[in-house]
Amino acid sequence: MLRTHHCGALNEKHSNEEVTLSGWVQKVRNKGFIVWVDIRDRYGVTQLVFDEERSPEWVFKKSLELGREDVIQIRGKVIERESKNPKMSSGGIEILVGDLKVLNAAKTPPFTIENETDGGDELRMQYRYLDLRRSPVRENLIFRHKVTMAVRNFLSQADFIDVETPYLIKSTPEGARDFVVPSRMNSGQFYALPQSPQTFKQLLMIAGFDKYFQIVKCFRDEDLRADRQPEFTQIDCEMTFVEQEDILFQFEAMIQHLLKKIKGVELGAFPRMTFTEAIQQYGNDKPDIRFGMAFGELNELAQNKGFNVFDSQELVVGIAVPGGASMSRKEIDAWIDLVKQPQIGATGLVWVKCNEDGSYKSTVDKFFGADDLTQWAEATGARAGDLIFVMAGAAHATRKQLSALRMEIAEQMGLRKADEFAAVWVTDFPLLEWDEDNQRYHAMHHPFTAPKKEDMGLLDSDPVKAKANAYDLVLNGNEIGGGSIRIHDKSLQEKMFNLLGFSEQEAKDQFGFLMDALQFGAPPHGGIALGLDRLVAILGGSEIIRDFIAFPKNNGGRDVMIDAPAALTLEQLEELSLKTLNKKTF
Ligand code: AMO
Repeated sequence: MLRTHHCGALNEKHSNEEVTLSGWVQKVRNKGFIVWVDIRDRYGVTQLVFDEERSPEWVFKKSLELGREDVIQIRGKVIERESKNPKMSSGGIEILVGDLKVLNAAKTPPFTIENETDGGDELRMQYRYLDLRRSPVRENLIFRHKVTMAVRNFLSQADFIDVETPYLIKSTPEGARDFVVPSRMNSGQFYALPQSPQTFKQLLMIAGFDKYFQIVKCFRDEDLRADRQPEFTQIDCEMTFVEQEDILFQFEAMIQHLLKKIKGVELGAFPRMTFTEAIQQYGNDKPDIRFGMAFGELNELAQNKGFNVFDSQELVVGIAVPGGASMSRKEIDAWIDLVKQPQIGATGLVWVKCNEDGSYKSTVDKFFGADDLTQWAEATGARAGDLIFVMAGAAHATRKQLSALRMEIAEQMGLRKADEFAAVWVTDFPLLEWDEDNQRYHAMHHPFTAPKKEDMGLLDSDPVKAKANAYDLVLNGNEIGGGSIRIHDKSLQEKMFNLLGFSEQEAKDQFGFLMDALQFGAPPHGGIALGLDRLVAILGGSEIIRDFIAFPKNNGGRDVMIDAPAALTLEQLEELSLKTLNKKTF
């Protein structure tokens, strides 16, 4: 071994021991006659001391040449420090170095490798392996490992079997675009990388595996955001002979277990909300329920009172901002400006201050008296000292705009606390959504999702009204999982494909294997997939999944470190029969 101890393992108990350490030079402080060097590895940092008088001359001289990130090995004696650093695990000691070997000298790194770095995002992405040396980034990955292990152990103990499914498959329509891989051996044909192992896990249920899980990479060619990467990881699960309730029970238990084990937080039973309730109460199908501010619908209270800004609108809806009555005019105007920005796109905001003395002050005093405003306060849950913001317009757009305002207010007021956790199940999603542009239905979850039994008849009469046996798991306002009970009956699956605009031939071409399998004793089954990256990030107190992925892509979908995606050589293109596909690339 090139070391006797890890950096960070030594303390006063090791005083006078001879030790060998290996690691990276983090910092050099040269006082002329004495040189202090911090040596770092995965486990911590230890202070080395090279002393003109106490270290061998050649060792002292060599220490003067050390630079940041050199990989060194030292031998020396543990001594107690004169001025101790209680913040470091080995802050009570230092090593008086007797022997020094430079295992590999390093170029000066492009940014400082300390907890607080001077490197910009792009630069740190380009040298990701250097960024990964920084303690906060490394800790995030160690944290991810802990969560992943806890998930594996939990599911394995609950009798789930980890089965790998292929990455080179045929496209599964999951809503996003596929990444495709050309086949050399099958000229002009392409594999697709899975958006999820959906059909395979269903086949595993048909094969009798009963309970499956896989921590699996999924690939989706979609626009990127803080909570989306083109390749991400799912905790993918499927169970046989279950109903929705069984799945919610099982995975509620898993999330409760993780929160307890990883964060020491006890979560009670998760509240449930239908999709319709979530939209009505929070304007959002992934509501953050950690702070109140639920919507109050005001149509009945605010329309036909002579204020025509409200009268003609489909929806008048408000929220109470806790303590908002003390906002200055300038602060209120800033919120009005915000909702008018194109990202939110509202026309404006009406506001009502609910003063501590029970009086009101509002932009609509002319039209609404104290009695009216008291009713508004009741509907929005506003109390003395709060401010009510009201929006009016088309129902869908207005709810969305008010939801954006609600989240922004909560963010700015510090109501979205990273160490507070609230999960909610959102159920009863619509089965289909109408795509106006393409004049066709899309499956809201995916085409294998079963309709609610009681809505079966609607498939023929009014399909868009049919609800699905589908559910999402929402944690702190983030969709961390989604699943459904599946169709296990061939004729229903055929009907579904038909509704989605697949011809019989198209359904057969794309999903013949599944249709076949459904005829060979497919049991009732259902499942869920949780987004591991999102789950880990939220447990880690963040919503930026990139920080919990070892080698993420940037917002343009690029890996700037390896410089991918990249062009292929002409030979490769020829071999893949791609040369003729697009002459522009040459
Ligand atoms: P769904 O498409 O809802 O369901 O995906 C499940 C979960 O995966 C996470 N997720 C993502 N995370 C990071 N980056 C992305 N681009 C991304 N896309 C999705 C989310 C989401 O809730 N096969 C079904 C599951 C099922 O029915 O069992 C599926 O993939 O947290």
